[in-house]
Amino acid sequence: MLLEVRDLHVEFHTRDGVAQAVNGVSYGVEAGETLAVLGESGSGKSVTAQAVMGILDMPPGRITGGEVVFRGRDLLRLKEDERRRIRGAEMAMIFQDALSSLNPVLSVGDQLGEMFTVHRGMSRKDARAKAVELMDRVRIPAARERVRQYPHQFSGGMRQRIMIAMALALEPALIIADEPTTALDVTVQAQVMELLAELQREYRMGLILITHDLGVVADVADRIAVMYAGRIVESAPVHDIYKAPAHPYTRGLLDSIPRLDQKGRELYAIKGLPPNLMHIPPGCAFHPRCPLARDVCRTHEPPLYEVSGTRGSACHFWTECLNG
Ligand SMILES: Nc1ncnc2c1ncn2[C@@H]1O[C@H](COP(=O)(O)OP(=O)(O)OP(=O)(O)O)[C@@H](O)[C@H]1O
Ligand code: SF4
Ligand SMILES: [Mg+2]
Repeated sequence: MLLEVRDLHVEFHTRDGVAQAVNGVSYGVEAGETLAVLGESGSGKSVTAQAVMGILDMPPGRITGGEVVFRGRDLLRLKEDERRRIRGAEMAMIFQDALSSLNPVLSVGDQLGEMFTVHRGMSRKDARAKAVELMDRVRIPAARERVRQYPHQFSGGMRQRIMIAMALALEPALIIADEPTTALDVTVQAQVMELLAELQREYRMGLILITHDLGVVADVADRIAVMYAGRIVESAPVHDIYKAPAHPYTRGLLDSIPRLDQKGRELYAIKGLPPNLMHIPPGCAFHPRCPLARDVCRTHEPPLYEVSGTRGSACHFWTECLNG
């Protein structure tokens, strides 16, 4: 396993109280595999990713338990300078908003080139050539000319390609993409997603793709992890989930995707709101919103039941859900 997150716990200490943002998350990614992480806003997708990358805001964040084993080492036990070396060179992150992640006063060529001068000790000239090569790789037209331009001179889609190029520069083993296309137009979203998936296959990287969009997941992911209130509630190969979800929350997410063949049909929405992370409901955190909930759900927290060798569901009644 390239990356294995084990029983990770993260909380945030704020003036109003302690938010339990991540409550025992475990997931893994193999080389060449894409894991999609799904879940509503606030479910802990980004915080988990930030803990893996070592970029969590601490304070107010605090990792209170767990391990992040990457290539055999627990990253949570490394010193900050070792982590910094791994970040960028061995694992990289792509964010939603390229404009605020790129440096506005450096040309894209200088930013891409810096990866090679700083991390690989290359000359400026060689680094510039590498920058052009990377811009070609992510299919930015006229790379040789545009390498001198600044981030604001590029369209949203092109900037996102530059971020992908930055992430790929040192050929990391793992990329975490946190809603990489959310800020883009729908047609551009598809192109950028396709590019990312293609490069991931070519470089045989592990990819963690965080997204709200179940539509894109079907095409690119191998596995899905569904998060709710800082826990994984279902984890399975992508085809299994689309065939039949084994958790009512996953079912709710699937039923809320617009489908071309059902135009005009009212879109299903999961009733209610995600829980307040300072007061997560006892038992199954999803019970106040769950159509299958009964008494045991209010008192007993479901473990991640084994549905099959490659699939788990944190629902007491997963068989019912699977067959329903
Ligand atoms: N800097 C912070 N300070 C305080 N609380 C935070 C901070 N960052 C995250 N949290 C808490 O952690 C929760 C989970 O946040 P996270 O960003 O992981 O959600 P997410 O699943 O990525 O949602 P989204 O889909 O909106 O990006 C938040 O709802 C919030 O309560
Ligand atoms: S454990 Fe109960 S409340 Fe939770 S998802 Fe399953 S049926 Fe619903
Ligand atoms: Mg997020």
